Amino acid sequence: MPRTPDPERLQEFAGSVFHSLQGAMTSAMICLGDRLGLYQALAGGEAVSSEALAQQTGLSERWLREWLHQQGAAGVLEHRGEERFALSPEAEAVLANEDHPAFGAGWFSSLPQTMGVLEELPEAFRTGIGLDYDALGAEGARGVERGFGAWFRSLLVPVALPRVEGVVEALGRGIRVADVGCGGGVALVEIAKAFPASEYHGYETSQHALDRARANASAAGLENVHFHDVRQEPLPEDGRFGFVTSFDCLHDMPDPVSVIQAIRGALAEDGVWLISDIKAHDGYEANVERNPMAALMYGTSVLTCLSSALSEPGGLGLGTLGLHEQLARQLAAEAGFASFERLELDHPVNAFYVVRP
Ligand SMILES: C[S@@+](CC[C@H](N)C(=O)[O-])C[C@H]1O[C@@H](n2cnc3c(N)ncnc32)[C@H](O)[C@@H]1O
Repeated sequence: MPRTPDPERLQEFAGSVFHSLQGAMTSAMICLGDRLGLYQALAGGEAVSSEALAQQTGLSERWLREWLHQQGAAGVLEHRGEERFALSPEAEAVLANEDHPAFGAGWFSSLPQTMGVLEELPEAFRTGIGLDYDALGAEGARGVERGFGAWFRSLLVPVALPRVEGVVEALGRGIRVADVGCGGGVALVEIAKAFPASEYHGYETSQHALDRARANASAAGLENVHFHDVRQEPLPEDGRFGFVTSFDCLHDMPDPVSVIQAIRGALAEDGVWLISDIKAHDGYEANVERNPMAALMYGTSVLTCLSSALSEPGGLGLGTLGLHEQLARQLAAEAGFASFERLELDHPVNAFYVVRP
């Protein structure tokens, strides 16, 4: 027999669930706005009507009007009266300015691909085997790159690297650098532009990410940046790298333990490994209590991170919130790293660790 719900709590619960659906619709509209360049068109803050936006963009007025109404109703755009809508300076930073550290529209641009795996995930729940990042296609790789790219472009070189003792001097002298799980290569490209005397190697498993990384390095005119499919060309074990980085990828890997051991073998005795990974806590309760975005992150995990981390049989399956500091410390110590320090950098979702042999 189905149980009888309390009418008041029923209304409250249904409201909260449909609030989530509303968030999904707003996300879909942000994806469209980003793809159509509408936030760039609205940059500057002038309030516009659908007619004015249609004239400016060459897009259909009737479609723009409905989109503007949705964005106003959702509070993404400000309604300034008489059906004229404007982008606040804050919304401009998050949705229109690709170089602002708070830029976030990149995460919405690959929403169709991220949600597309919903068709395949029921099978993953049955078999236990997930999908790697290439299941998200070329647009998925572009979305990840745009999602993290703004931070790499604005803060990695001027703010983060000087905080890692000895690295800026070594990069200036000329060392070998590896970025493991390099995605579209934006981090390496940024470091390589700033320190041309060094030599750079990105390691990846995603073919779409490798394609983007090679194109990005070539567009920047860099000849000292090389990318490797780590399944064909594993990290060398001869301690040739003076600096290794791994940004937001260890929790995605089916076998992070072997990758950490490989990093230990590839790193020079006086080298340094910079890790960034999600600011996770040990256990569900701590994550929910201390992370207001926990539901977003557990969802992202099922759709991408956990799926990737279980994409091979026997995968460790850490997932988005799986690599908390204590575990990262333990895995590094087990791989033979003697020093592990947390680096306090202001970042909305990531923690940073400086690890040395
Ligand atoms: C969330 S993305 C981060 C990419 C990049 N570091 C960035 O910050 O933009 C995680 C990446 O790890 C890659 N990856 C997963 N397993 C890997 C492995 N065993 N070795 C190297 N890369 C791997 C995925 O293909 C994906 O591109």
